[in-house]
Amino acid sequence: MPRFKLNNGGYMPAIGIGCWMGTVGDSQQVEEMVLTALRLGYRHIDTVRNERSVGKAIRESNVPRSEIFLVTKLSSEDHDRPEEALQRSLGQLDVDYVDLYLMHWPQAFDTDHARYRSPEESPTFIETWKMLENLVDTGKTRSIGVSNFSIKTLDILLKHVRIVPATNQVEMHPYLPQHDLLSYCSSRDILLTAYSPIGKYKFATDPSVLEIAQRIDASVAQVLLSWGVKRGTAVIPKSTHELRMKENITLIALDNEDMQILDDLYHQPGMHRSVCGFHSSELGGSCFGWTYAQLGWDMMEGGIMRS
Ligand SMILES: NC(=O)c1ccc[n+]([C@@H]2O[C@H](COP(=O)([O-])OP(=O)(O)OC[C@H]3O[C@@H](n4cnc5c(N)ncnc54)[C@H](OP(=O)(O)O)[C@@H]3O)[C@@H](O)[C@H]2O)c1
Repeated sequence: MPRFKLNNGGYMPAIGIGCWMGTVGDSQQVEEMVLTALRLGYRHIDTVRNERSVGKAIRESNVPRSEIFLVTKLSSEDHDRPEEALQRSLGQLDVDYVDLYLMHWPQAFDTDHARYRSPEESPTFIETWKMLENLVDTGKTRSIGVSNFSIKTLDILLKHVRIVPATNQVEMHPYLPQHDLLSYCSSRDILLTAYSPIGKYKFATDPSVLEIAQRIDASVAQVLLSWGVKRGTAVIPKSTHELRMKENITLIALDNEDMQILDDLYHQPGMHRSVCGFHSSELGGSCFGWTYAQLGWDMMEGGIMRS
Protein backbone atom coordinates (compact mmCIF):
# COMPACT_ATOMS: atom_id res chain seq x y z
CA MET A 1 0.00 0.00 0.00
CA PRO A 2 1.64 3.32 -1.03
CA ARG A 3 1.71 6.08 1.59
CA PHE A 4 1.87 9.85 1.33
CA LYS A 5 4.10 11.94 3.58
CA LEU A 6 2.23 14.66 5.44
CA ASN A 7 3.63 18.10 6.23
CA ASN A 8 4.02 17.11 9.93
CA GLY A 9 6.35 14.25 8.98
CA GLY A 10 3.73 11.50 9.41
CA TYR A 11 2.53 9.11 6.72
CA MET A 12 -0.98 8.41 5.49
CA PRO A 13 -1.85 5.25 3.55
CA ALA A 14 -2.94 6.27 0.05
CA ILE A 15 -6.19 4.29 0.23
CA GLY A 16 -8.63 4.40 3.10
CA ILE A 17 -12.06 2.97 3.73
CA GLY A 18 -14.76 5.65 3.60
CA CYS A 19 -17.34 5.14 6.34
CA TRP A 20 -20.13 7.51 5.35
CA MET A 21 -23.19 5.34 4.71
CA GLY A 22 -25.50 8.13 3.56
CA THR A 23 -27.07 8.63 6.99
CA VAL A 24 -25.76 9.67 10.38
CA GLY A 25 -25.28 6.99 13.01
CA ASP A 26 -23.76 3.76 14.13
CA SER A 27 -24.77 0.44 12.65
CA GLN A 28 -23.85 -3.18 12.42
CA GLN A 29 -23.14 -2.57 8.74
CA VAL A 30 -20.43 0.02 9.48
CA GLU A 31 -18.87 -2.27 12.06
CA GLU A 32 -18.78 -5.22 9.65
CA MET A 33 -17.45 -3.08 6.82
CA VAL A 34 -14.56 -1.73 8.90
CA LEU A 35 -13.76 -5.14 10.33
CA THR A 36 -13.63 -6.62 6.83
CA ALA A 37 -11.55 -3.70 5.60
CA LEU A 38 -8.99 -4.20 8.38
CA ARG A 39 -8.86 -7.92 7.62
CA LEU A 40 -8.23 -7.16 3.94
CA GLY A 41 -5.34 -4.82 4.76
CA TYR A 42 -6.89 -1.36 4.88
CA ARG A 43 -5.00 0.72 7.44
CA HIS A 44 -6.64 4.09 6.89
CA ILE A 45 -10.19 4.70 8.13
CA ASP A 46 -12.21 7.82 7.36
CA THR A 47 -15.13 8.18 9.73
CA VAL A 48 -17.69 10.73 10.77
CA ARG A 49 -20.66 10.38 13.08
CA ASN A 50 -20.52 6.60 13.33
CA GLU A 51 -17.51 6.37 15.55
CA ARG A 52 -18.79 3.80 18.05
CA SER A 53 -19.14 1.23 15.27
CA VAL A 54 -15.70 2.05 13.91
CA GLY A 55 -14.18 1.80 17.38
CA LYS A 56 -15.84 -1.56 17.97
CA ALA A 57 -14.47 -2.92 14.69
CA ILE A 58 -10.96 -1.71 15.51
CA ARG A 59 -11.07 -3.46 18.89
CA GLU A 60 -12.47 -6.64 17.41
CA SER A 61 -9.89 -6.72 14.61
CA ASN A 62 -6.94 -6.97 17.01
CA VAL A 63 -4.96 -4.78 14.62
CA PRO A 64 -2.70 -2.63 16.82
CA ARG A 65 -3.93 0.95 17.09
CA SER A 66 -0.47 2.16 16.02
CA GLU A 67 -0.88 0.48 12.61
CA ILE A 68 -4.08 2.34 11.79
CA PHE A 69 -4.38 5.86 10.39
CA LEU A 70 -7.63 7.06 11.91
CA VAL A 71 -9.41 10.16 10.62
CA THR A 72 -12.46 11.82 12.07
CA LYS A 73 -14.14 15.17 11.63
CA LEU A 74 -15.37 18.23 13.49
CA SER A 75 -19.01 18.80 12.55
CA SER A 76 -20.37 22.24 11.68
CA GLU A 77 -22.45 22.15 14.89
CA ASP A 78 -19.28 21.99 16.99
CA HIS A 79 -17.19 24.81 15.51
CA ASP A 80 -17.26 26.72 18.77
CA ARG A 81 -16.23 23.70 20.90
CA PRO A 82 -13.65 21.54 19.04
CA GLU A 83 -11.97 20.29 22.20
CA GLU A 84 -15.23 18.93 23.61
CA ALA A 85 -16.14 17.45 20.21
CA LEU A 86 -12.79 15.71 19.80
CA GLN A 87 -13.00 14.33 23.34
CA ARG A 88 -16.47 12.96 22.51
CA SER A 89 -15.10 11.34 19.33
CA LEU A 90 -12.20 9.77 21.21
CA GLY A 91 -14.64 8.40 23.78
CA GLN A 92 -16.87 6.89 21.12
CA LEU A 93 -13.95 5.47 19.17
CA ASP A 94 -12.40 4.32 22.47
CA VAL A 95 -8.93 5.48 21.44
CA ASP A 96 -6.45 7.93 23.00
CA TYR A 97 -5.77 9.89 19.82
CA VAL A 98 -6.75 10.23 16.19
CA ASP A 99 -4.19 10.61 13.43
CA LEU A 100 -6.04 13.39 11.66
CA TYR A 101 -8.87 15.66 12.76
CA LEU A 102 -10.63 17.53 9.96
CA MET A 103 -12.82 20.61 9.97
CA HIS A 104 -15.57 18.92 7.94
CA TRP A 105 -16.90 22.12 6.33
CA PRO A 106 -15.90 25.78 6.57
CA GLN A 107 -19.48 26.65 7.65
CA ALA A 108 -20.42 26.82 11.33
CA PHE A 109 -23.95 25.83 12.32
CA ASP A 110 -25.78 27.83 14.96
CA THR A 111 -27.67 25.13 16.86
CA ASP A 112 -29.64 27.64 18.99
CA HIS A 113 -31.22 29.20 15.92
CA ALA A 114 -30.98 26.17 13.59
CA ARG A 115 -29.15 28.01 10.83
CA TYR A 116 -25.71 28.19 9.24
CA ARG A 117 -23.67 31.21 10.25
CA SER A 118 -22.45 33.53 7.49
CA PRO A 119 -18.71 33.49 6.63
CA GLU A 120 -18.11 36.66 8.70
CA GLU A 121 -19.94 35.50 11.84
CA SER A 122 -18.08 34.08 14.81
CA PRO A 123 -16.76 31.48 15.04
CA THR A 124 -15.32 31.99 11.57
CA PHE A 125 -13.34 29.09 10.12
CA ILE A 126 -10.18 31.00 11.06
CA GLU A 127 -11.25 31.11 14.72
CA THR A 128 -12.20 27.44 14.63
CA TRP A 129 -8.87 26.57 13.00
CA LYS A 130 -6.99 28.28 15.85
CA MET A 131 -8.85 26.06 18.31
CA LEU A 132 -7.90 23.00 16.21
CA GLU A 133 -4.24 24.06 16.33
CA ASN A 134 -4.40 23.96 20.12
CA LEU A 135 -5.67 20.37 19.92
CA VAL A 136 -2.44 19.24 18.25
CA ASP A 137 -0.59 20.50 21.30
CA THR A 138 -2.71 18.21 23.53
CA GLY A 139 -1.61 15.11 21.57
CA LYS A 140 -5.24 14.04 21.12
CA THR A 141 -4.81 14.42 17.39
CA ARG A 142 -1.52 13.94 15.57
CA SER A 143 -2.47 16.29 12.76
CA ILE A 144 -5.26 18.58 11.63
CA GLY A 145 -6.74 19.33 8.26
CA VAL A 146 -9.75 20.74 6.47
CA SER A 147 -12.41 19.41 4.17
CA ASN A 148 -14.47 21.05 1.45
CA PHE A 149 -12.06 24.00 1.28
CA SER A 150 -11.43 25.73 -2.05
CA ILE A 151 -8.54 27.88 -3.24
CA LYS A 152 -10.57 30.90 -2.07
CA THR A 153 -11.20 29.66 1.48
CA LEU A 154 -7.67 28.23 1.81
CA ASP A 155 -6.22 31.57 0.70
CA ILE A 156 -8.15 33.28 3.50
CA LEU A 157 -7.23 30.63 6.09
CA LEU A 158 -3.53 30.27 5.26
CA LYS A 159 -2.85 33.94 6.10
CA HIS A 160 -3.67 33.15 9.74
CA VAL A 161 -2.29 29.68 10.44
CA ARG A 162 0.39 28.51 12.83
CA ILE A 163 -0.08 24.96 11.52
CA VAL A 164 -0.68 24.47 7.80
CA PRO A 165 -3.51 21.96 7.24
CA ALA A 166 -2.00 18.51 6.61
CA THR A 167 -4.78 17.62 4.19
CA ASN A 168 -7.83 19.01 2.44
CA GLN A 169 -10.51 16.39 1.81
CA VAL A 170 -12.67 17.28 -1.20
CA GLU A 171 -14.83 15.64 -3.84
CA MET A 172 -12.51 14.45 -6.61
CA HIS A 173 -12.91 12.11 -9.55
CA PRO A 174 -12.44 12.55 -13.32
CA TYR A 175 -15.72 14.53 -13.68
CA LEU A 176 -14.49 16.91 -10.97
CA PRO A 177 -10.69 16.62 -11.16
CA GLN A 178 -9.97 20.03 -9.55
CA HIS A 179 -6.63 20.32 -11.34
CA ASP A 180 -6.13 23.92 -10.07
CA LEU A 181 -6.82 22.98 -6.45
CA LEU A 182 -4.39 20.06 -6.77
CA SER A 183 -1.55 22.25 -7.96
CA TYR A 184 -2.41 24.93 -5.35
CA CYS A 185 -2.32 22.38 -2.52
CA SER A 186 0.79 20.56 -3.82
CA SER A 187 2.74 23.81 -3.88
CA ARG A 188 1.77 24.47 -0.23
CA ASP A 189 2.49 20.93 0.99
CA ILE A 190 -1.17 20.16 1.66
CA LEU A 191 -2.17 16.62 0.68
CA LEU A 192 -5.51 16.28 -1.04
CA THR A 193 -7.77 13.40 -0.09
CA ALA A 194 -10.35 12.57 -2.74
CA TYR A 195 -13.82 11.76 -1.42
CA SER A 196 -16.38 10.06 -3.64
CA PRO A 197 -13.24 8.97 -5.57
CA ILE A 198 -15.11 6.50 -7.76
CA GLY A 199 -17.79 9.11 -8.39
CA LYS A 200 -20.35 7.03 -6.46
CA TYR A 201 -19.95 4.56 -9.34
CA LYS A 202 -21.59 6.88 -11.85
CA PHE A 203 -18.74 6.18 -14.31
CA ALA A 204 -19.90 2.64 -15.01
CA THR A 205 -21.22 3.69 -18.42
CA ASP A 206 -18.53 6.17 -19.43
CA PRO A 207 -17.12 4.78 -22.71
CA SER A 208 -13.57 6.14 -22.19
CA VAL A 209 -13.31 4.68 -18.68
CA LEU A 210 -14.81 1.38 -19.82
CA GLU A 211 -12.41 1.21 -22.76
CA ILE A 212 -9.36 1.68 -20.48
CA ALA A 213 -10.70 -0.82 -17.94
CA GLN A 214 -11.34 -3.49 -20.58
CA ARG A 215 -8.04 -2.93 -22.38
CA ILE A 216 -5.92 -3.31 -19.23
CA ASP A 217 -8.15 -5.97 -17.66
CA ALA A 218 -9.08 -3.91 -14.62
CA SER A 219 -12.36 -2.75 -13.13
CA VAL A 220 -13.80 0.74 -13.52
CA ALA A 221 -13.22 1.41 -9.80
CA GLN A 222 -9.58 0.32 -10.07
CA VAL A 223 -9.00 2.65 -13.03
CA LEU A 224 -10.48 5.62 -11.15
CA LEU A 225 -8.72 4.94 -7.85
CA SER A 226 -5.37 4.26 -9.54
CA TRP A 227 -5.72 7.55 -11.43
CA GLY A 228 -6.39 9.31 -8.10
CA VAL A 229 -3.34 7.86 -6.37
CA LYS A 230 -1.05 8.32 -9.36
CA ARG A 231 -1.87 12.03 -9.48
CA GLY A 232 -0.82 12.30 -5.84
CA THR A 233 -4.11 12.23 -3.93
CA ALA A 234 -5.23 9.86 -1.20
CA VAL A 235 -8.56 8.12 -1.97
CA ILE A 236 -11.24 6.88 0.42
CA PRO A 237 -13.73 4.68 -1.47
CA LYS A 238 -16.65 3.24 0.45
CA SER A 239 -17.97 -0.25 -0.19
CA THR A 240 -19.76 -2.76 1.97
CA HIS A 241 -18.96 -5.63 -0.43
CA GLU A 242 -15.87 -7.65 0.35
CA LEU A 243 -14.90 -8.33 -3.28
CA ARG A 244 -15.23 -4.66 -4.16
CA MET A 245 -13.25 -3.65 -1.09
CA LYS A 246 -10.51 -6.01 -2.18
CA GLU A 247 -10.60 -4.64 -5.70
CA ASN A 248 -10.46 -1.07 -4.38
CA ILE A 249 -7.14 -1.56 -2.58
CA THR A 250 -5.53 -3.25 -5.56
CA LEU A 251 -3.99 -0.49 -7.64
CA ILE A 252 -3.12 -0.97 -11.31
CA ALA A 253 -0.49 0.77 -13.43
CA LEU A 254 -1.84 3.44 -15.77
CA ASP A 255 0.37 4.83 -18.52
CA ASN A 256 0.65 8.55 -19.24
CA GLU A 257 -1.70 8.33 -22.19
CA ASP A 258 -4.48 6.83 -20.08
CA MET A 259 -3.80 9.36 -17.30
CA GLN A 260 -4.26 12.11 -19.88
CA ILE A 261 -7.55 10.62 -21.10
CA LEU A 262 -8.85 10.56 -17.50
CA ASP A 263 -7.47 14.05 -16.78
CA ASP A 264 -9.45 15.39 -19.75
CA LEU A 265 -12.71 13.51 -19.27
CA TYR A 266 -14.46 16.47 -17.67
CA HIS A 267 -14.34 18.33 -21.02
CA GLN A 268 -17.26 16.22 -22.26
CA PRO A 269 -20.36 18.44 -22.45
CA GLY A 270 -22.31 18.52 -19.15
CA MET A 271 -19.88 16.19 -17.39
CA HIS A 272 -17.82 18.68 -15.36
CA ARG A 273 -19.79 18.35 -12.16
CA SER A 274 -20.26 17.14 -8.62
CA VAL A 275 -21.95 13.77 -8.14
CA CYS A 276 -22.87 14.47 -4.51
CA GLY A 277 -26.41 15.00 -3.24
CA PHE A 278 -25.77 17.92 -0.87
CA HIS A 279 -26.37 20.73 -3.38
CA SER A 280 -29.32 23.06 -2.86
CA SER A 281 -30.99 25.34 -5.41
CA GLU A 282 -31.48 28.01 -2.70
CA LEU A 283 -29.56 31.27 -3.17
CA GLY A 284 -29.03 30.36 -6.84
CA GLY A 285 -26.98 27.29 -5.91
CA SER A 286 -25.59 26.63 -2.45
CA CYS A 287 -24.41 24.07 0.00
CA PHE A 288 -25.24 23.99 3.70
CA GLY A 289 -26.21 27.65 3.84
CA TRP A 290 -23.35 29.18 1.87
CA THR A 291 -23.50 30.16 -1.78
CA TYR A 292 -21.05 28.57 -4.17
CA ALA A 293 -19.32 31.98 -4.35
CA GLN A 294 -18.86 32.01 -0.55
CA LEU A 295 -17.48 28.48 -0.70
CA GLY A 296 -15.25 29.45 -3.62
CA TRP A 297 -16.81 26.81 -5.83
CA ASP A 298 -17.15 27.86 -9.47
CA MET A 299 -20.50 26.12 -9.86
CA MET A 300 -24.03 26.67 -11.14
CA GLU A 301 -27.20 25.26 -9.61
CA GLY A 302 -27.02 21.48 -9.21
CA GLY A 303 -23.27 21.39 -8.68
CA ILE A 304 -22.36 21.86 -12.34
CA MET A 305 -19.04 23.60 -12.98
CA ARG A 306 -19.26 26.86 -14.94
CA SER A 307 -16.33 26.06 -17.24
N1 LIG B 1 -15.70 15.23 3.60
C1 LIG B 1 -16.89 15.15 3.07
O1 LIG B 1 -17.68 16.11 3.07
C2 LIG B 1 -17.31 13.87 2.43
C3 LIG B 1 -18.42 13.83 1.59
C4 LIG B 1 -18.76 12.62 0.97
C5 LIG B 1 -17.97 11.49 1.22
N2 LIG B 1 -16.90 11.56 2.07
C6 LIG B 1 -16.06 10.35 2.36
O2 LIG B 1 -15.76 9.68 1.13
C7 LIG B 1 -16.16 8.32 1.23
C8 LIG B 1 -16.51 7.75 -0.13
O3 LIG B 1 -17.41 8.57 -0.83
P1 LIG B 1 -18.81 8.09 -1.41
O4 LIG B 1 -19.32 6.95 -0.62
O5 LIG B 1 -19.64 9.29 -1.57
O6 LIG B 1 -18.48 7.64 -2.90
P2 LIG B 1 -17.60 6.51 -3.63
O7 LIG B 1 -16.66 5.86 -2.69
O8 LIG B 1 -17.06 7.15 -4.85
O9 LIG B 1 -18.71 5.49 -4.11
C9 LIG B 1 -19.41 4.65 -3.24
C10 LIG B 1 -20.42 3.88 -4.05
O10 LIG B 1 -19.78 3.08 -5.04
C11 LIG B 1 -20.08 1.68 -4.81
N3 LIG B 1 -18.80 0.95 -5.01
C12 LIG B 1 -17.70 1.01 -4.24
N4 LIG B 1 -16.70 0.26 -4.76
C13 LIG B 1 -17.21 -0.31 -5.89
C14 LIG B 1 -16.68 -1.20 -6.86
N5 LIG B 1 -15.42 -1.65 -6.79
N6 LIG B 1 -17.49 -1.57 -7.90
C15 LIG B 1 -18.77 -1.12 -7.98
N7 LIG B 1 -19.31 -0.26 -7.10
C16 LIG B 1 -18.54 0.15 -6.06
C17 LIG B 1 -20.58 1.59 -3.39
O11 LIG B 1 -21.57 0.59 -3.26
P3 LIG B 1 -21.43 -0.66 -2.23
O12 LIG B 1 -21.17 -0.10 -0.86
O13 LIG B 1 -22.78 -1.29 -2.35
O14 LIG B 1 -20.31 -1.51 -2.75
C18 LIG B 1 -21.26 2.96 -3.20
O15 LIG B 1 -22.55 2.96 -3.75
C19 LIG B 1 -17.32 8.37 2.22
O16 LIG B 1 -17.61 7.12 2.76
C20 LIG B 1 -16.80 9.37 3.24
O17 LIG B 1 -15.88 8.72 4.11
C21 LIG B 1 -16.55 12.73 2.65
